[in-house]
Amino acid sequence: MAKPLMAMVFLLCFFALHSADDSSYRSLEYSILPRGLSDQKSLCSQLVQPAGYPCAEHQIQTKDGFLLGLQRVSSCDGDLEKQKGPPILLLHGLFMGGDAWFLNSARESLGFILADNGFDVWIGNVRGTRWSHGHTSLSEDEKEFWDWSWEELALYDLAGMIDYINSLTKRKLYVVGHSQGTIMSFAALTQPDIAEKVEAAALLSPISYLEHITAPLVRLMVDTHLDTIILAAGFHELNFKSDWGTVLLDDLCDRLVNCINVLSSITGENCCLNGSRFDLFFEYEPHPSSAKNLHHLFQMIRKGTFSRYDYGLLKNLRVYGQRKPPAFDLSRIPKSLPLWMAYGGSDELSDWTDLQHTIKELKSVPELVYLENYGHVDFILSMKAKEDVYDPMIKFLKSLGKSGIEYGDSGRNPYEFR
Ligand SMILES: *[C@@H]1O[C@H](CO)[C@@H](O)[C@H](O)[C@H]1NC(C)=O
Repeated sequence: MAKPLMAMVFLLCFFALHSADDSSYRSLEYSILPRGLSDQKSLCSQLVQPAGYPCAEHQIQTKDGFLLGLQRVSSCDGDLEKQKGPPILLLHGLFMGGDAWFLNSARESLGFILADNGFDVWIGNVRGTRWSHGHTSLSEDEKEFWDWSWEELALYDLAGMIDYINSLTKRKLYVVGHSQGTIMSFAALTQPDIAEKVEAAALLSPISYLEHITAPLVRLMVDTHLDTIILAAGFHELNFKSDWGTVLLDDLCDRLVNCINVLSSITGENCCLNGSRFDLFFEYEPHPSSAKNLHHLFQMIRKGTFSRYDYGLLKNLRVYGQRKPPAFDLSRIPKSLPLWMAYGGSDELSDWTDLQHTIKELKSVPELVYLENYGHVDFILSMKAKEDVYDPMIKFLKSLGKSGIEYGDSGRNPYEFR
């Protein structure tokens, strides 16, 4: 506990001292994290096409004006315009982007593996990440740009992505989420107009209730109300690749011996990451998110609820017409919607007690895969994830097709893909 405590003290001092004026840090050079990648570069051109896979950039506009990048990927010998397999949408986790699905080798990374298996692969990127493209009227410098949490990511970003893919392909789609991508999926699937466009969902490190999170560094931040401090100090964007973010992570990593320790005290011990890929990993991660998003998640850890954002009594009355924020009702997810979940014994963010709480409230009975030695990040980056997680997931998805579900209006059996 001593090391996280030191880090915490540092965090508190840092925010107390440098919130108003971080300009003194601007001229200093910090080495541990490469600077954010240039916005000119696209995910397709950076990570997908170089591996030999056809990839197209799409842009959608959410109902509240955010412009999001979506990538469509096919197998190496496939045709992006004539995809035969069912569409599948991949939703990354908090402080990550769509690149997370491509950071191991092509044989190990889910984005490539699904394309190899004939799926019509779509990569989602939520607002605030470096693969999203801003807003129709707000600039990233405005605090209004960062006025959202995972609730908006579910009801605007995910809803918009599903609408777009559904209308383009005329098919229902599969949704695959990791971490924040799963809380978005749970929330969105409680809405009938979204659920009716989804064929099935596969959830890696599923989260909705968060009360029993054990990750020591997270608990420390929750208990000391770091989220409240950050907001009170006037931070709206959380960007660990910004000037202050780099200083912060650099110091944290330094004090906790190295960055992998920081990762472990946030995600739990990951069994199977490839050490020689950490440089590549930190070239892309972490992506920015909003301070409000962190605050919303921390509210849920403190209260044990799966509810909308809590504004406090008075504003809750104004916004929701009730004292407490309305809960998301997991029992509204259709019983007929097939769910598949994989969770890990070393995952300190997706806790089994919380997952049991989630499953109890669902009408649909999920198929479960348990991996004793998996931490939170193993589900996207383990060198053995293909055998441990992705092969069983693909088997599940393909088995659904065999029971004769009709797709779109193409008239052919949608499951006649490899
Ligand atoms: C780990 O990453 C290195 C560098 O990219 C690669 O050469 C190696 O094959 C990877 N190991 C495994 C087991 O995937």
